[in-house]
Amino acid sequence: MPLDIQVRTATILDLAAEVLVVGVLQSGKAPVLSPSLKALDAALGGALAKVIEKDEFTGKCDQSVSLSTLGRIHAEKVVLLGVGERRGLRPPALRTFAAKAARVAVAERAKSLALVLPAGHEVDLRPIAEGLELGAYRFTKYMTGDRKPKVALATVIIGATGKVSGGSKASVMVGQKVAAAVNLSRDLSNEPANVIYPESFAAAAEKLAKEHNLACHVFDFKEIRRRGMKLIDAVGRGSRHEPRFVHIAWTPKNAKRKLVFVGKGITFDSGGLSIKPAAAMGEMKHDMSGAANVVALMAAVAALRPKVEVHAIAACAENMPDGNAYRPGDIWGSLDGKTVEMVNTDAEGRLVLADALAYARTLSPDVVVDNATLTGACVVALGTTCSGWYGNDEATAREFAAALEQSGEQMWRMPLLEDLREQVKSDVADLKQAGDRHGGSITAALFLREFVGDSRWIHCDIAGPAAIDRPTAWMTTKGATGHGVLTFLAMIERASR
Ligand code: BES
Ligand code: MN
Ligand code: ZN
Repeated sequence: MPLDIQVRTATILDLAAEVLVVGVLQSGKAPVLSPSLKALDAALGGALAKVIEKDEFTGKCDQSVSLSTLGRIHAEKVVLLGVGERRGLRPPALRTFAAKAARVAVAERAKSLALVLPAGHEVDLRPIAEGLELGAYRFTKYMTGDRKPKVALATVIIGATGKVSGGSKASVMVGQKVAAAVNLSRDLSNEPANVIYPESFAAAAEKLAKEHNLACHVFDFKEIRRRGMKLIDAVGRGSRHEPRFVHIAWTPKNAKRKLVFVGKGITFDSGGLSIKPAAAMGEMKHDMSGAANVVALMAAVAALRPKVEVHAIAACAENMPDGNAYRPGDIWGSLDGKTVEMVNTDAEGRLVLADALAYARTLSPDVVVDNATLTGACVVALGTTCSGWYGNDEATAREFAAALEQSGEQMWRMPLLEDLREQVKSDVADLKQAGDRHGGSITAALFLREFVGDSRWIHCDIAGPAAIDRPTAWMTTKGATGHGVLTFLAMIERASR
Protein backbone atom coordinates (compact mmCIF):
# COMPACT_ATOMS: atom_id res chain seq x y z
CA MET A 1 0.00 0.00 0.00
CA PRO A 2 1.40 3.40 -0.89
CA LEU A 3 1.69 5.92 1.92
CA ASP A 4 -0.98 8.58 2.16
CA ILE A 5 1.25 11.62 1.64
CA GLN A 6 -0.40 15.00 2.12
CA VAL A 7 1.19 18.37 1.54
CA ARG A 8 -0.19 21.11 3.74
CA THR A 9 0.50 24.73 4.37
CA ALA A 10 1.01 24.73 8.12
CA THR A 11 3.33 25.86 10.87
CA ILE A 12 5.26 23.33 12.92
CA LEU A 13 2.92 23.66 15.86
CA ASP A 14 -0.12 22.90 13.72
CA LEU A 15 1.25 19.58 12.50
CA ALA A 16 -0.48 16.65 14.15
CA ALA A 17 1.20 13.26 13.93
CA GLU A 18 2.76 10.69 16.23
CA VAL A 19 6.25 11.63 15.14
CA LEU A 20 7.41 15.02 13.93
CA VAL A 21 10.68 15.10 12.01
CA VAL A 22 12.31 18.43 11.20
CA GLY A 23 15.19 18.77 8.75
CA VAL A 24 17.80 21.22 10.03
CA LEU A 25 20.53 22.79 7.94
CA GLN A 26 24.03 22.90 9.35
CA SER A 27 25.05 26.28 10.64
CA GLY A 28 28.37 26.94 12.32
CA LYS A 29 28.96 25.48 15.78
CA ALA A 30 25.49 25.80 17.16
CA PRO A 31 22.39 25.89 14.97
CA VAL A 32 20.53 29.11 14.79
CA LEU A 33 16.98 28.17 15.62
CA SER A 34 14.69 29.22 12.83
CA PRO A 35 11.61 31.18 13.91
CA SER A 36 9.49 28.04 13.65
CA LEU A 37 11.97 25.99 15.73
CA LYS A 38 11.98 28.81 18.27
CA ALA A 39 8.23 28.54 18.51
CA LEU A 40 8.56 24.77 18.91
CA ASP A 41 11.18 25.25 21.62
CA ALA A 42 8.93 27.68 23.44
CA ALA A 43 6.02 25.22 23.29
CA LEU A 44 8.32 22.58 24.79
CA GLY A 45 9.39 24.87 27.60
CA GLY A 46 12.93 25.31 26.29
CA ALA A 47 13.64 21.57 26.28
CA LEU A 48 14.61 21.57 22.62
CA ALA A 49 17.33 24.17 22.97
CA LYS A 50 18.65 22.20 25.95
CA VAL A 51 19.11 18.89 24.09
CA ILE A 52 20.57 20.69 21.13
CA GLU A 53 23.20 22.17 23.35
CA LYS A 54 23.84 19.02 25.35
CA ASP A 55 24.16 16.81 22.24
CA GLU A 56 26.18 19.46 20.41
CA PHE A 57 23.74 19.23 17.55
CA THR A 58 24.83 21.47 14.69
CA GLY A 59 22.71 20.12 11.86
CA LYS A 60 25.59 18.13 10.43
CA CYS A 61 24.50 15.31 8.18
CA ASP A 62 23.61 12.16 10.16
CA GLN A 63 23.28 14.04 13.46
CA SER A 64 19.95 13.89 15.21
CA VAL A 65 18.28 14.75 18.47
CA SER A 66 14.97 13.47 19.68
CA LEU A 67 12.70 14.13 22.58
CA SER A 68 9.28 13.30 23.88
CA THR A 69 6.83 16.16 23.90
CA LEU A 70 4.75 14.81 26.79
CA GLY A 71 1.67 16.05 25.03
CA ARG A 72 2.69 19.68 24.83
CA ILE A 73 2.26 19.83 21.06
CA HIS A 74 0.27 17.80 18.54
CA ALA A 75 3.14 15.32 18.08
CA GLU A 76 4.29 12.77 20.66
CA LYS A 77 7.87 12.80 19.58
CA VAL A 78 10.07 15.40 17.92
CA VAL A 79 13.18 14.48 16.00
CA LEU A 80 15.57 16.98 14.47
CA LEU A 81 17.60 15.50 11.63
CA GLY A 82 20.74 17.24 10.45
CA VAL A 83 20.91 17.57 6.70
CA GLY A 84 24.30 19.25 6.38
CA GLU A 85 25.10 22.36 4.43
CA ARG A 86 22.72 23.89 1.94
CA ARG A 87 24.99 23.45 -1.07
CA GLY A 88 25.15 19.66 -0.58
CA LEU A 89 21.39 19.42 -0.41
CA ARG A 90 20.56 18.18 -3.87
CA PRO A 91 17.77 15.71 -4.65
CA PRO A 92 19.63 12.56 -3.54
CA ALA A 93 20.37 14.14 -0.15
CA LEU A 94 16.73 15.17 0.19
CA ARG A 95 15.70 11.62 -0.63
CA THR A 96 18.03 10.28 2.02
CA PHE A 97 16.65 12.76 4.56
CA ALA A 98 13.07 11.65 3.87
CA ALA A 99 14.08 7.99 4.03
CA LYS A 100 15.68 8.54 7.41
CA ALA A 101 12.54 10.28 8.63
CA ALA A 102 10.44 7.32 7.52
CA ARG A 103 12.86 4.93 9.23
CA VAL A 104 12.55 6.91 12.45
CA ALA A 105 8.76 6.70 12.25
CA VAL A 106 8.86 2.98 11.52
CA ALA A 107 11.25 2.39 14.44
CA GLU A 108 8.85 4.36 16.67
CA ARG A 109 6.01 2.14 15.49
CA ALA A 110 4.18 5.28 14.41
CA LYS A 111 1.21 5.27 12.07
CA SER A 112 1.65 8.90 11.20
CA LEU A 113 4.59 11.15 10.51
CA ALA A 114 4.81 14.88 10.02
CA LEU A 115 7.75 16.15 8.07
CA VAL A 116 9.19 19.64 8.01
CA LEU A 117 11.60 20.11 5.13
CA PRO A 118 14.82 22.04 5.50
CA ALA A 119 14.12 25.72 4.85
CA GLY A 120 14.06 26.59 1.16
CA HIS A 121 13.61 22.99 -0.02
CA GLU A 122 9.86 22.73 -0.04
CA VAL A 123 9.74 22.90 -3.81
CA ASP A 124 11.23 19.57 -4.82
CA LEU A 125 8.85 16.96 -3.51
CA ARG A 126 9.66 14.07 -5.82
CA PRO A 127 12.84 12.99 -3.99
CA ILE A 128 11.03 13.50 -0.69
CA ALA A 129 8.22 11.16 -1.70
CA GLU A 130 10.74 8.66 -3.08
CA GLY A 131 12.67 8.69 0.18
CA LEU A 132 9.56 8.26 2.32
CA GLU A 133 8.44 5.15 0.42
CA LEU A 134 11.95 3.71 0.25
CA GLY A 135 12.65 4.33 3.92
CA ALA A 136 9.33 2.85 5.02
CA TYR A 137 10.02 -0.37 3.12
CA ARG A 138 10.07 -3.61 5.08
CA PHE A 139 9.74 -7.21 4.02
CA THR A 140 7.42 -8.68 6.61
CA LYS A 141 5.24 -10.87 4.43
CA TYR A 142 6.26 -14.11 6.11
CA MET A 143 5.94 -12.98 9.70
CA THR A 144 2.99 -14.25 11.70
CA GLY A 145 1.64 -13.91 15.23
CA ASP A 146 3.85 -11.83 17.49
CA ARG A 147 6.39 -11.35 14.73
CA LYS A 148 3.83 -9.67 12.53
CA PRO A 149 4.16 -5.87 12.82
CA LYS A 150 1.04 -4.55 14.47
CA VAL A 151 1.29 -1.06 13.07
CA ALA A 152 2.59 0.29 9.82
CA LEU A 153 3.38 3.82 8.83
CA ALA A 154 0.36 4.95 6.82
CA THR A 155 0.15 8.73 6.72
CA VAL A 156 2.74 11.41 6.14
CA ILE A 157 2.01 15.10 6.35
CA ILE A 158 4.52 17.37 4.72
CA GLY A 159 4.33 20.82 6.22
CA ALA A 160 4.99 23.56 3.72
CA THR A 161 5.49 27.19 4.58
CA GLY A 162 4.27 28.55 1.24
CA LYS A 163 1.19 27.72 -0.77
CA VAL A 164 0.91 24.16 -2.05
CA SER A 165 0.78 24.05 -5.82
CA GLY A 166 -0.88 21.39 -7.92
CA GLY A 167 2.56 20.65 -9.27
CA SER A 168 3.85 19.57 -5.90
CA LYS A 169 1.07 17.01 -5.59
CA ALA A 170 2.00 15.63 -9.00
CA SER A 171 5.66 15.43 -7.91
CA VAL A 172 4.66 13.45 -4.86
CA MET A 173 2.72 11.02 -7.06
CA VAL A 174 5.66 10.52 -9.41
CA GLY A 175 8.04 10.02 -6.51
CA GLN A 176 5.78 7.41 -4.98
CA LYS A 177 5.52 5.50 -8.25
CA VAL A 178 9.27 5.53 -8.76
CA ALA A 179 9.86 4.28 -5.22
CA ALA A 180 7.15 1.66 -5.63
CA ALA A 181 9.15 0.28 -8.56
CA VAL A 182 12.32 0.08 -6.46
CA ASN A 183 10.37 -1.56 -3.65
CA LEU A 184 8.91 -4.05 -6.08
CA SER A 185 12.43 -4.98 -7.11
CA ARG A 186 13.28 -5.45 -3.43
CA ASP A 187 10.21 -7.61 -2.90
CA LEU A 188 11.11 -9.88 -5.81
CA SER A 189 14.67 -10.15 -4.56
CA ASN A 190 13.59 -10.84 -0.99
CA GLU A 191 11.18 -13.61 -1.96
CA PRO A 192 12.77 -16.97 -1.20
CA ALA A 193 13.81 -19.30 -3.98
CA ASN A 194 11.04 -21.77 -3.16
CA VAL A 195 8.59 -19.03 -4.14
CA ILE A 196 10.44 -17.19 -6.90
CA TYR A 197 11.90 -19.54 -9.51
CA PRO A 198 12.11 -18.83 -13.25
CA GLU A 199 8.51 -19.72 -14.00
CA SER A 200 7.03 -17.71 -11.10
CA PHE A 201 9.39 -14.83 -11.82
CA ALA A 202 8.15 -14.76 -15.41
CA ALA A 203 4.56 -14.89 -14.15
CA ALA A 204 5.26 -11.88 -11.92
CA ALA A 205 6.77 -10.05 -14.88
CA GLU A 206 3.76 -10.86 -17.03
CA LYS A 207 1.43 -9.62 -14.32
CA LEU A 208 3.33 -6.36 -14.05
CA ALA A 209 3.34 -5.89 -17.81
CA LYS A 210 -0.38 -6.50 -17.98
CA GLU A 211 -1.14 -4.06 -15.17
CA HIS A 212 0.86 -1.37 -16.95
CA ASN A 213 -0.24 -2.15 -20.46
CA LEU A 214 3.20 -3.16 -21.65
CA ALA A 215 4.05 -5.75 -24.27
CA CYS A 216 5.53 -8.88 -22.70
CA HIS A 217 7.00 -12.03 -24.19
CA VAL A 218 8.06 -15.04 -22.15
CA PHE A 219 10.08 -17.80 -23.80
CA ASP A 220 9.69 -21.19 -22.16
CA PHE A 221 12.47 -23.79 -22.13
CA LYS A 222 11.42 -25.23 -25.48
CA GLU A 223 11.55 -21.78 -27.07
CA ILE A 224 14.87 -20.96 -25.38
CA ARG A 225 16.34 -24.11 -26.93
CA ARG A 226 14.66 -23.56 -30.30
CA ARG A 227 16.22 -20.10 -30.51
CA GLY A 228 19.65 -21.44 -29.74
CA MET A 229 20.15 -19.86 -26.32
CA LYS A 230 22.51 -22.66 -25.48
CA LEU A 231 24.20 -20.95 -22.55
CA ILE A 232 20.88 -20.41 -20.75
CA ASP A 233 20.16 -24.06 -21.48
CA ALA A 234 23.52 -25.08 -19.96
CA VAL A 235 22.92 -23.13 -16.74
CA GLY A 236 19.26 -24.03 -16.32
CA ARG A 237 19.27 -27.71 -17.18
CA GLY A 238 20.40 -28.99 -13.75
CA SER A 239 17.28 -27.74 -11.98
CA ARG A 240 13.77 -29.14 -11.63
CA HIS A 241 12.65 -25.60 -12.41
CA GLU A 242 12.97 -24.80 -16.12
CA PRO A 243 14.59 -21.56 -17.25
CA ARG A 244 12.56 -18.67 -18.63
CA PHE A 245 13.44 -15.67 -20.79
CA VAL A 246 11.43 -12.50 -20.31
CA HIS A 247 11.19 -9.50 -22.63
CA ILE A 248 9.02 -6.47 -21.70
CA ALA A 249 8.79 -3.46 -23.99
CA TRP A 250 7.66 0.18 -23.81
CA THR A 251 7.42 1.39 -27.40
CA PRO A 252 5.99 4.93 -27.68
CA LYS A 253 5.45 6.55 -31.07
CA ASN A 254 8.22 8.93 -32.20
CA ALA A 255 10.68 7.50 -29.71
CA LYS A 256 13.93 9.45 -29.67
CA ARG A 257 16.16 6.59 -28.65
CA LYS A 258 16.08 2.93 -27.78
CA LEU A 259 17.48 1.69 -24.48
CA VAL A 260 17.69 -1.98 -23.58
CA PHE A 261 18.15 -3.13 -19.98
CA VAL A 262 19.28 -6.68 -19.30
CA GLY A 263 19.23 -8.47 -15.94
CA LYS A 264 20.72 -11.64 -14.52
CA GLY A 265 17.89 -13.75 -13.18
CA ILE A 266 19.47 -16.64 -11.31
CA THR A 267 16.63 -17.36 -8.90
CA PHE A 268 18.97 -19.47 -6.80
CA ASP A 269 22.69 -19.95 -7.22
CA SER A 270 23.90 -23.13 -5.56
CA GLY A 271 27.03 -22.96 -7.69
CA GLY A 272 25.92 -26.05 -9.60
CA LEU A 273 28.40 -28.97 -9.64
CA SER A 274 31.11 -26.48 -8.59
CA ILE A 275 28.94 -26.18 -5.53
CA LYS A 276 29.25 -23.24 -3.15
CA PRO A 277 30.21 -23.73 0.48
CA ALA A 278 27.18 -23.47 2.79
CA ALA A 279 28.05 -20.00 4.10
CA ALA A 280 28.30 -18.55 0.60
CA MET A 281 25.02 -20.11 -0.56
CA GLY A 282 22.86 -18.53 2.10
CA GLU A 283 22.08 -15.30 0.31
CA MET A 284 21.85 -16.66 -3.19
CA LYS A 285 18.09 -16.24 -3.47
CA HIS A 286 19.03 -12.65 -4.27
CA ASP A 287 20.98 -13.68 -7.36
CA MET A 288 18.09 -12.51 -9.54
CA SER A 289 18.34 -8.90 -8.32
CA GLY A 290 19.44 -7.70 -11.76
CA ALA A 291 16.40 -9.26 -13.40
CA ALA A 292 14.16 -7.88 -10.65
CA ASN A 293 15.61 -4.43 -11.30
CA VAL A 294 14.86 -4.38 -15.02
CA VAL A 295 11.35 -5.76 -14.62
CA ALA A 296 10.52 -3.34 -11.81
CA LEU A 297 12.05 -0.50 -13.82
CA MET A 298 9.31 -1.01 -16.39
CA ALA A 299 6.65 -0.11 -13.83
CA ALA A 300 8.34 3.26 -13.34
CA VAL A 301 8.71 3.64 -17.10
CA ALA A 302 5.01 3.02 -17.58
CA ALA A 303 4.27 5.70 -14.98
CA LEU A 304 6.63 8.29 -16.47
CA ARG A 305 5.80 7.59 -20.13
CA PRO A 306 9.20 8.71 -21.53
CA LYS A 307 9.64 9.49 -25.23
CA VAL A 308 12.20 6.73 -25.58
CA GLU A 309 11.80 3.07 -26.31
CA VAL A 310 12.68 0.93 -23.30
CA HIS A 311 13.14 -2.82 -23.24
CA ALA A 312 13.68 -5.05 -20.22
CA ILE A 313 15.21 -8.45 -20.69
CA ALA A 314 15.51 -10.98 -17.89
CA ALA A 315 17.39 -14.24 -18.32
CA CYS A 316 16.08 -16.54 -15.62
CA ALA A 317 17.41 -19.90 -14.52
CA GLU A 318 18.13 -21.79 -11.35
CA ASN A 319 21.73 -22.97 -11.00
CA MET A 320 21.54 -26.46 -9.50
CA PRO A 321 23.53 -29.68 -9.70
CA ASP A 322 21.89 -32.85 -10.92
CA GLY A 323 22.53 -35.67 -13.37
CA ASN A 324 21.65 -33.41 -16.25
CA ALA A 325 23.67 -30.40 -15.09
CA TYR A 326 26.43 -28.78 -17.16
CA ARG A 327 29.93 -29.61 -16.04
CA PRO A 328 33.36 -28.04 -15.79
CA GLY A 329 35.14 -28.99 -19.01
CA ASP A 330 31.95 -28.90 -21.09
CA ILE A 331 32.03 -26.90 -24.30
CA TRP A 332 28.78 -25.13 -25.18
CA GLY A 333 27.69 -22.97 -28.09
CA SER A 334 25.73 -19.75 -27.63
CA LEU A 335 23.05 -17.64 -29.28
CA ASP A 336 25.87 -15.48 -30.63
CA GLY A 337 27.58 -18.51 -32.14
CA LYS A 338 30.76 -18.36 -30.06
CA THR A 339 31.74 -21.50 -28.16
CA VAL A 340 32.56 -21.47 -24.45
CA GLU A 341 34.73 -23.83 -22.46
CA MET A 342 33.29 -24.21 -18.97
CA VAL A 343 35.66 -24.17 -16.04
CA ASN A 344 33.44 -23.45 -13.03
CA THR A 345 29.69 -23.91 -13.00
CA ASP A 346 29.45 -21.20 -10.34
CA ALA A 347 30.31 -18.60 -12.99
CA GLU A 348 26.78 -19.00 -14.37
CA GLY A 349 25.61 -15.39 -14.45
CA ARG A 350 27.86 -14.35 -17.35
CA LEU A 351 26.50 -17.30 -19.35
CA VAL A 352 22.83 -16.40 -19.14
CA LEU A 353 23.78 -12.76 -19.69
CA ALA A 354 25.83 -13.64 -22.78
CA ASP A 355 22.75 -15.07 -24.50
CA ALA A 356 20.60 -12.19 -23.26
CA LEU A 357 23.09 -9.64 -24.60
CA ALA A 358 23.21 -11.41 -27.95
CA TYR A 359 19.41 -11.23 -28.03
CA ALA A 360 19.45 -7.56 -26.97
CA ARG A 361 21.68 -6.77 -29.95
CA THR A 362 19.01 -7.96 -32.35
CA LEU A 363 16.81 -5.07 -31.13
CA SER A 364 19.37 -2.56 -32.57
CA PRO A 365 19.51 -0.49 -29.38
CA ASP A 366 21.27 2.84 -28.94
CA VAL A 367 22.56 1.60 -25.61
CA VAL A 368 22.49 -1.75 -23.81
CA VAL A 369 22.75 -1.70 -20.02
CA ASP A 370 23.09 -4.96 -18.17
CA ASN A 371 23.07 -5.42 -14.43
CA ALA A 372 23.91 -8.49 -12.45
CA THR A 373 25.00 -9.76 -9.06
CA LEU A 374 27.87 -11.14 -11.05
CA THR A 375 30.96 -11.56 -8.93
CA GLY A 376 32.00 -11.87 -5.33
CA ALA A 377 35.20 -10.17 -6.49
CA CYS A 378 33.33 -6.92 -7.07
CA VAL A 379 31.95 -7.06 -3.54
CA VAL A 380 35.48 -7.69 -2.26
CA ALA A 381 36.72 -4.70 -4.24
CA LEU A 382 34.00 -2.16 -3.41
CA GLY A 383 32.24 -3.49 -0.33
CA THR A 384 28.57 -4.20 0.10
CA THR A 385 27.32 -0.65 -0.34
CA CYS A 386 28.74 0.12 -3.76
CA SER A 387 28.35 -1.48 -7.17
CA GLY A 388 30.84 -1.52 -10.00
CA TRP A 389 30.19 -0.40 -13.57
CA TYR A 390 31.96 -0.70 -16.90
CA GLY A 391 31.49 0.96 -20.27
CA ASN A 392 32.91 0.27 -23.74
CA ASP A 393 32.13 3.73 -25.16
CA GLU A 394 33.18 7.02 -23.61
CA ALA A 395 30.20 9.12 -24.73
CA THR A 396 27.83 6.52 -23.27
CA ALA A 397 29.96 6.31 -20.15
CA ARG A 398 29.57 10.07 -19.70
CA GLU A 399 25.80 9.72 -20.01
CA PHE A 400 25.81 6.97 -17.45
CA ALA A 401 28.03 8.94 -15.08
CA ALA A 402 25.60 11.87 -15.38
CA ALA A 403 22.69 9.57 -14.59
CA LEU A 404 24.56 8.32 -11.51
CA GLU A 405 25.20 11.88 -10.43
CA GLN A 406 21.49 12.57 -10.74
CA SER A 407 20.34 9.44 -8.92
CA GLY A 408 22.94 9.60 -6.18
CA GLU A 409 23.36 5.83 -6.28
CA GLN A 410 26.82 4.64 -5.31
CA MET A 411 28.51 2.92 -8.24
CA TRP A 412 32.16 3.06 -9.10
CA ARG A 413 33.60 2.79 -12.59
CA MET A 414 35.89 -0.16 -13.19
CA PRO A 415 38.33 -0.63 -16.09
CA LEU A 416 38.01 -3.11 -18.95
CA LEU A 417 41.71 -3.96 -18.66
CA GLU A 418 42.96 -5.50 -21.88
CA ASP A 419 45.83 -7.10 -19.93
CA LEU A 420 43.38 -9.58 -18.45
CA ARG A 421 41.87 -10.63 -21.80
CA GLU A 422 44.23 -13.62 -21.83
CA GLN A 423 42.31 -15.10 -18.93
CA VAL A 424 39.13 -15.65 -20.95
CA LYS A 425 40.88 -17.24 -23.93
CA SER A 426 40.56 -20.99 -24.26
CA ASP A 427 42.76 -23.65 -25.84
CA VAL A 428 39.79 -25.72 -26.95
CA ALA A 429 36.97 -23.20 -27.61
CA ASP A 430 36.49 -19.57 -28.63
CA LEU A 431 36.26 -18.43 -25.04
CA LYS A 432 36.91 -19.64 -21.55
CA GLN A 433 34.05 -19.02 -19.13
CA ALA A 434 36.11 -17.58 -16.30
CA GLY A 435 39.59 -16.41 -15.38
CA ASP A 436 41.44 -16.91 -12.13
CA ARG A 437 40.81 -15.22 -8.81
CA HIS A 438 42.62 -12.06 -9.72
CA GLY A 439 40.55 -9.31 -11.29
CA GLY A 440 37.44 -11.50 -11.12
CA SER A 441 34.95 -8.69 -11.77
CA ILE A 442 37.00 -7.41 -14.70
CA THR A 443 37.40 -10.79 -16.41
CA ALA A 444 33.66 -11.36 -16.05
CA ALA A 445 33.07 -8.02 -17.78
CA LEU A 446 35.58 -8.90 -20.51
CA PHE A 447 33.75 -12.16 -21.07
CA LEU A 448 30.44 -10.31 -21.46
CA ARG A 449 32.01 -7.81 -23.85
CA GLU A 450 32.51 -10.70 -26.29
CA PHE A 451 28.73 -10.83 -26.72
CA VAL A 452 27.78 -7.19 -27.19
CA GLY A 453 29.18 -6.85 -30.73
CA ASP A 454 29.54 -3.18 -31.56
CA SER A 455 26.70 -2.05 -29.29
CA ARG A 456 27.31 0.80 -26.90
CA TRP A 457 27.25 -1.02 -23.62
CA ILE A 458 27.23 -0.42 -19.86
CA HIS A 459 27.67 -3.30 -17.45
CA CYS A 460 26.85 -3.07 -13.74
CA ASP A 461 28.22 -5.63 -11.30
CA ILE A 462 25.75 -4.98 -8.50
CA ALA A 463 26.24 -5.71 -4.83
CA GLY A 464 22.64 -6.67 -4.12
CA PRO A 465 22.67 -9.97 -2.29
CA ALA A 466 25.33 -9.26 0.28
CA ALA A 467 23.95 -5.85 1.10
CA ILE A 468 20.31 -6.63 1.60
CA ASP A 469 18.70 -4.99 4.60
CA ARG A 470 21.94 -4.38 6.44
CA PRO A 471 22.04 -1.26 8.61
CA THR A 472 24.01 0.55 5.94
CA ALA A 473 21.49 -0.43 3.35
CA TRP A 474 18.42 1.27 4.70
CA MET A 475 18.37 3.39 1.56
CA THR A 476 18.53 2.11 -1.95
CA THR A 477 21.30 4.47 -2.84
CA LYS A 478 23.64 2.39 -0.77
CA GLY A 479 23.76 -1.15 -1.97
CA ALA A 480 20.41 -2.55 -0.94
CA THR A 481 18.55 -4.55 -3.51
CA GLY A 482 16.88 -2.36 -6.03
CA HIS A 483 20.28 -0.75 -6.47
CA GLY A 484 20.49 0.59 -10.01
CA VAL A 485 16.81 1.25 -10.73
CA LEU A 486 17.01 4.96 -9.92
CA THR A 487 20.05 5.38 -12.16
CA PHE A 488 18.51 3.48 -15.05
CA LEU A 489 15.45 5.64 -14.73
CA ALA A 490 17.58 8.79 -14.68
CA MET A 491 19.22 7.57 -17.89
CA ILE A 492 15.83 7.08 -19.51
CA GLU A 493 14.56 10.47 -18.37
CA ARG A 494 17.68 12.19 -19.65
CA ALA A 495 17.30 10.50 -23.02
CA SER A 496 13.66 11.55 -23.14
CA ARG A 497 14.38 15.27 -22.67
N1 BES B 1 26.21 -14.83 -7.80
C1 BES B 1 27.60 -15.02 -7.65
C2 BES B 1 28.34 -13.74 -7.31
C3 BES B 1 28.11 -13.13 -5.97
C4 BES B 1 28.48 -13.79 -4.80
C5 BES B 1 27.56 -11.87 -5.89
C6 BES B 1 28.27 -13.18 -3.59
C7 BES B 1 27.36 -11.25 -4.67
C8 BES B 1 27.70 -11.92 -3.51
C9 BES B 1 28.20 -15.53 -8.97
O1 BES B 1 27.40 -16.37 -9.72
C10 BES B 1 29.41 -16.33 -8.62
O2 BES B 1 29.28 -17.34 -7.99
N2 BES B 1 30.57 -15.84 -9.06
C11 BES B 1 31.80 -16.49 -8.81
C12 BES B 1 32.60 -16.52 -10.07
C13 BES B 1 33.81 -17.41 -10.02
C14 BES B 1 33.40 -18.85 -9.91
C15 BES B 1 34.62 -17.22 -11.28
C16 BES B 1 32.53 -15.70 -7.74
O3 BES B 1 32.44 -14.46 -7.73
O4 BES B 1 33.14 -16.31 -6.87
MN1 MN C 1 27.56 -18.40 -9.19
ZN1 ZN D 1 25.39 -16.14 -9.45
